[in-house]
Amino acid sequence: METSETHTEYLVEVERVTAGFAGSIVLDDVSMNAHKHDITVILGASGCGKTTLLKNIIRLYQPRSGSIRLFGQEITTMDDPEFNRILEKIGVLFQNGALLNSIPISENVAIPIKQHTSLSPRLVERLVRIKLDLVGLQKAATQLPSQLSGGMRKRAALARSIALDPPLLFCDEPTAGLDPVTADSLDRLILNMRDQLGMTIVVVTHEISSIKRIADRIVFMDAGKILFTGSLDEARQAGIEQIDQFFGKAGD
Ligand SMILES: Nc1ncnc2c1ncn2[C@@H]1O[C@H](COP(=O)(O)OP(=O)(O)O)[C@@H](O)[C@H]1O
Ligand SMILES: [Mg+2]
Repeated sequence: METSETHTEYLVEVERVTAGFAGSIVLDDVSMNAHKHDITVILGASGCGKTTLLKNIIRLYQPRSGSIRLFGQEITTMDDPEFNRILEKIGVLFQNGALLNSIPISENVAIPIKQHTSLSPRLVERLVRIKLDLVGLQKAATQLPSQLSGGMRKRAALARSIALDPPLLFCDEPTAGLDPVTADSLDRLILNMRDQLGMTIVVVTHEISSIKRIADRIVFMDAGKILFTGSLDEARQAGIEQIDQFFGKAGD
């Protein structure tokens, strides 16, 4: 049995996880990991279990069996105070953004800062401004989410998810439903966060154009199982029918 010290290059380590909902198995003996400073893309057809895997990794769900380590620490058996300290080092961009609609963008971004720090209002405001600058929304600070386009809302949600400078970021379908130009700019933002902020990023997606742009490594899922882990080039040469079908169907 290896200790966490030998694994520190991996910020996420999932080992033989089985999970599901009353009676159904959605993750079947899943193992994967995410290397520090990499963008790891979890991909696969709709309904194959990507979001469920993500939610197990951030402990919104508990697996039935297996091990999940974040920053080298086992989280499935951790007590809540200890897990809250892990949560402070994690950003999550959910599929639906989940901004509060009744308050302006700046206040949405301030929520995690106020929740986890005791900084003065002026410092909070300054941090919020830095994050909004980073995602190109400096001019939208006082607007309500409903006044923004879909792409801008995604950017605002991204600003909020990185408000505390998490070293580890999870994004579920960040470009789904966006037009190609907006999707491209969001992908570039994700690449910037890896390159300029040194973040480790795990992206769930089924958008082939995004995968090509951002993936350092891919984890290919099919019906609750991991079929392949490696580079995109390796995946396409692996001769795995489901992978060929996945990329073929989109016609590249
Ligand atoms: N809360 C839930 N309760 C019951 N079944 C669920 C729930 N969430 C997801 N599922 C089922 O688990 C399977 C995988 O879903 P999901 O992880 O959302 O797939 P993906 O993100 O790859 O599209 C699907 O069959 C889905 O219907
Ligand atoms: Mg999903």
